[in-house]
Amino acid sequence: MTHAVTARAHTNIALIKYWGKRDAKLILPYTSSVSLTLADLYTDTTVEFDPTLAADTFSLNGEVRPAGKISAFLDLVRAQSGTTAHAHVRSLNHVPTAAGLASSASAFAALALAASRAAGLALTPTDLSRLARRGSGSASRSIFGGLAIWHRGSDDTTSFAEPLPATTLPLKMVVVLVDQGRKAISSRQMMTATIATSPYFPAWVQHNEAAAEKMVRALAANDFAQVGALTEASSMQMHAAIMASEPSFTYFEPETLVAWQKVQALRASGVPAYATMDAGPNVKILTLAPYVDAVVTALADSFAGRLLTTGPGPAARILKEASD
Ligand code: ADP
Ligand code: DP6
Ligand code: CO
Repeated sequence: MTHAVTARAHTNIALIKYWGKRDAKLILPYTSSVSLTLADLYTDTTVEFDPTLAADTFSLNGEVRPAGKISAFLDLVRAQSGTTAHAHVRSLNHVPTAAGLASSASAFAALALAASRAAGLALTPTDLSRLARRGSGSASRSIFGGLAIWHRGSDDTTSFAEPLPATTLPLKMVVVLVDQGRKAISSRQMMTATIATSPYFPAWVQHNEAAAEKMVRALAANDFAQVGALTEASSMQMHAAIMASEPSFTYFEPETLVAWQKVQALRASGVPAYATMDAGPNVKILTLAPYVDAVVTALADSFAGRLLTTGPGPAARILKEASD
């Protein structure tokens, strides 16, 4: 008899970014990070352990893919649960893959939940977050809905995410789909290069850890101007550290700057809107519900049909469990 479990986890966009691992094997970050889990971008993953299987299998959006990274992750679940069986893993991304829209966050949060449950474990949210972290750092935050903080911690036990108190700010995010193609250099690779070669990396670490603390205070105070300013600064400072790597590199495309400049112009005209970019060319605009129409209107001439408005999304959850 086998047991198939399907879990859904939503992507999250960091307001205060994670960029750089102190410990690459355990995925312990240099700094804490703060994020917003999104309602409309998510991953559904089904895991089915089967003692008759000779190896793990993996498909993404219906296409069979190499299972290497998935198997390494399942090994952690097998070690925790005592299961030795291999598994079928089937995943569907309702988010562009590897485009800087945090597919690795929703992917490994969904996999952590589905695989642990399928292996008979009932992990606490903290332990789920620690497990998801081992697949992709940003996934630690996608276990939770809404706003979350990933405490950098000092070891495997103390590095996990948790929800932040709900804010009364009606937060919204307008996603500008500049380019949905796969990034040239993965987040993981570019983080390593930034640490190894960017003279700005130490400054980034020092500044960003303090920014995470300021962000928690700004959210608690419902101070959107401060939340927005910290959001834009963390993103641009991360990209500055990336650009300063040798050889030089940037995730920006020409249209990234087009969107970014429109956000600056919107703000100059009194609309509270702030831009944030991850390891990819797409721009996410943080704003408040009453200003969504103004933001969408301002971006529509350049990005018609490429705008997605979303807001805070729910925690990772089980969609289906079936035995046969
Ligand atoms: P992103 O900006 O999308 O998070 P990353 O470079 O961080 O980009 O991670 C992309 C990688 O995450 C993919 O190459 C793949 O290895 C993994 N990934 C994405 N979606 C899934 C999924 N649904 N299941 C398993 N792994 C996934
Ligand atoms: C720019 O979590 O994708 O989106 O831990 O190597 O899997 P790995 O990297 P990943 O990096 C995310 C980087 C970021 C910022 C963030 O989400 O905090
Ligand atoms: Co990622």
